[in-house]
Amino acid sequence: MLSFTRSRKSYYLLLACAATSICLINLFYLTETVDNHRLSGFTFFGKPKPVGEYAHDGHPIVSLMREANRQWLAYDNSRSTNFRRTVAKYREIHGRHPPPGFKEWYMFARKKNAHNVDDFQQISGDLRPFWALAPADIRKMAAKLQNSDGIAGVRIRNHKVSIDMESWRPETLRDSIKRIAKFLPDMDIALNVMDQPRVMVTYNDTQEYLRTEALSRSLPSDALDQFTLGMDYLYGKDSTIEGVEPEWFSIAGRPYMSFANESCPPGSPARANISTKDADKLYKSPSAGFITNFTASSDLCTVGPVLGDSHGFLFSASSNIISRKLLPVFSECKVSVNNDILFPANMYFMNDKRYVYNPRHDNEWEDKSDTLLWRGVTSGGVQLADNWHRLHRQRFVQAANSTEMESRTVPILAENNMKQYRNFSDFSPSNFSLDHFDVGFTEAWGCIPDCSFYDDIWTYKEPKDFSQQFKSKYLVDIDGHSFSGRWRAFQHSKSLGIKATIFREWHDSRLFPWRHFVPMDNRYDDLYALMTYFIGLGNSSSSTLPASGEPYVQSHDFEAEVIAAQSREWAQQALRNEDLEIYLYLLLLEYGRITDDNRDSIGYSGDGSELDHFDAQYPFSMPIQMVVGDHPDTP
Ligand SMILES: *[C@@H]1O[C@H](CO)[C@@H](O)[C@H](O)[C@H]1NC(C)=O
Ligand SMILES: *[C@@H]1O[C@H](CO)[C@@H](O)[C@H](O)[C@H]1NC(C)=O
Ligand SMILES: *[C@@H]1O[C@H](CO)[C@@H](O)[C@H](O)[C@H]1NC(C)=O
Ligand SMILES: *[C@@H]1O[C@H](CO)[C@@H](O)[C@H](O)[C@H]1NC(C)=O
Ligand SMILES: *[C@@H]1O[C@H](CO)[C@@H](O)[C@H](O)[C@H]1NC(C)=O
Ligand SMILES: *[C@@H]1O[C@H](CO)[C@@H](O)[C@H](O)[C@H]1NC(C)=O
Ligand SMILES: *[C@@H]1O[C@H](CO)[C@@H](O)[C@H](O)[C@H]1NC(C)=O
Ligand SMILES: *[C@@H]1O[C@H](CO)[C@@H](O)[C@H](O)[C@H]1NC(C)=O
Repeated sequence: MLSFTRSRKSYYLLLACAATSICLINLFYLTETVDNHRLSGFTFFGKPKPVGEYAHDGHPIVSLMREANRQWLAYDNSRSTNFRRTVAKYREIHGRHPPPGFKEWYMFARKKNAHNVDDFQQISGDLRPFWALAPADIRKMAAKLQNSDGIAGVRIRNHKVSIDMESWRPETLRDSIKRIAKFLPDMDIALNVMDQPRVMVTYNDTQEYLRTEALSRSLPSDALDQFTLGMDYLYGKDSTIEGVEPEWFSIAGRPYMSFANESCPPGSPARANISTKDADKLYKSPSAGFITNFTASSDLCTVGPVLGDSHGFLFSASSNIISRKLLPVFSECKVSVNNDILFPANMYFMNDKRYVYNPRHDNEWEDKSDTLLWRGVTSGGVQLADNWHRLHRQRFVQAANSTEMESRTVPILAENNMKQYRNFSDFSPSNFSLDHFDVGFTEAWGCIPDCSFYDDIWTYKEPKDFSQQFKSKYLVDIDGHSFSGRWRAFQHSKSLGIKATIFREWHDSRLFPWRHFVPMDNRYDDLYALMTYFIGLGNSSSSTLPASGEPYVQSHDFEAEVIAAQSREWAQQALRNEDLEIYLYLLLLEYGRITDDNRDSIGYSGDGSELDHFDAQYPFSMPIQMVVGDHPDTP
């Protein structure tokens, strides 16, 4: 027993140390990328949009798509299209002036054709609590963290960037910052080099910080549009940095929710005795459990109780070192209870062909097969003979396995003889999965003592690179033991992305569920209802309910194609390499301001008119066109 505990401990330690290499394996696994596809990229731009209408059949998914389009239109129509409006809107939203250097940022963003210059809500959301701390205290913490566990130091001095660790994450961030360093003030960045987020402040403390922030808002008319030079408490300048101790502690292998609950509001499911059925009502449709609120579906305060034992990150994380202190730590992803400062993941800046979309690897929708595809390794947490079946990837591969599903039934929606959708609660999905799913692990990895307990469980499948994956219409994206690095490529592709996740990333506020992707429950209880809807099921003449007892669902290939087209069009406007840079640039201006001793009296206080001429030279792109106009539902 003792030796088991010890070997387990050293295993966690090993994993924690190897976090950087793990990420590469974990996020995506491919052996090589082969360019053996046929070329279909000539219509990459200017391809006509799908033509048609949504089916008038009263299915709940069409209402979800319409609602998403409505929200999207409001979002796209309200964007600023000149600098005057941009600064006015910034002040309306934040109650503050934009940070110093905002005008230069705006010109940078516009020259790179940013479509929306207002939607950087994630940045302000992440930084808001820090207004409650004194700027010098944030600098002291950032300086002190430079040498901390699982943190790399990235420093900007006099527009030059340096790092203190030779490793891919700090090296990549250094190179990204180099391109914009001439616009940035001196600062210390504490970069999280682990896959998992690090900061988890309690609910009460966060509320207190947010209250303080709200009280500190002001719009001084004489604000100075420049950062303060020569501030103290930057790393290396003062020999001793007396910042607060980070007080890291490891919760690897312990139930995440028993810590996360302290960061949840009192009445939330994570803290109150709320039944699963009542919690589900907060984010799932009554029919078939489709996700109606994607934010809530990944909010651990809402879903924590049902996912606590069934998502590897929440019960079997290989490494997880956190603090309850509000520390300025920059991370690539987080879960809903974290206070890490998000930035676009280093992976996205690496131009690695395993993660980067290349249109030459893609096919037109009509040339893709009606299949749902997923490949990956068995990552997601430490796996043991008695816990692997509860991990999220493992559950998905089993739920999609036709042999495994032979004796199981699942609920879907099917047409009755009046052509109305009704609950069909005992659908046998085995044959459907056999015909339409191509899901499997490519390799076992991350087990204690070794992965031999999988010998009779999985049939390992060949890895597929993007050129092979994009032959399928439907691509599922599931967490590893961190966020999934392939998602951006899926959004760019002509296939339809289906996503289940608990992780949050820099781009979340710009991706609209049911418009840019199909959200899936982390329990996958909606998997077959989703896929029978898009692919279709059965034969309308032979299976009219209730006579034959065979369910029939009309195919909704058009609806799937529309979402895929919308996501692709938007990704080309909002998830480009330029968009990563634009985000990072504004983030570091905002971070530079909250750490500036004069933060309450600096910023851009003009009315924006200086850029009237510039705006005339760089007009904004047209609003995004709707693929399908809004027709009233047939009764
Ligand atoms: C959190 O704040 C509430 C209301 O101010 C208070 O009743 C409660 O005791 C606090 N909880 C903790 C753990 O401090
Ligand atoms: C959180 O969970 C732990 C372990 O179950 C429990 O001891 C603690 O009281 C919970 N805290 C709250 C605020 O619910
Ligand atoms: C939670 O609620 C259920 C049903 O309402 C009840 O039976 C149970 O005793 C409650 N548990 C606690 C700990 O309050
Ligand atoms: C969705 O859930 C989030 C988080 O739980 C909540 O803040 C938001 O108000 C919900 N949105 C709607 C439209 O109900
Ligand atoms: C399916 O059943 C649920 C209750 O289990 C109900 O709320 C819903 O309206 C039903 N859906 C349809 C289409 O009949
Ligand atoms: C699955 O397909 C096989 C072969 O066509 C058939 O014999 C079987 O009845 C089908 N199973 C179900 C549940 O429809
Ligand atoms: C599906 O499940 C069967 C039975 O458990 C198993 O033999 C098979 O290897 C699984 N297939 C895959 C692709 O893992
Ligand atoms: C659908 O069922 C009808 C009547 O049983 C049959 O004639 C037809 O061939 C079937 N079509 C397909 C595509 O299976």
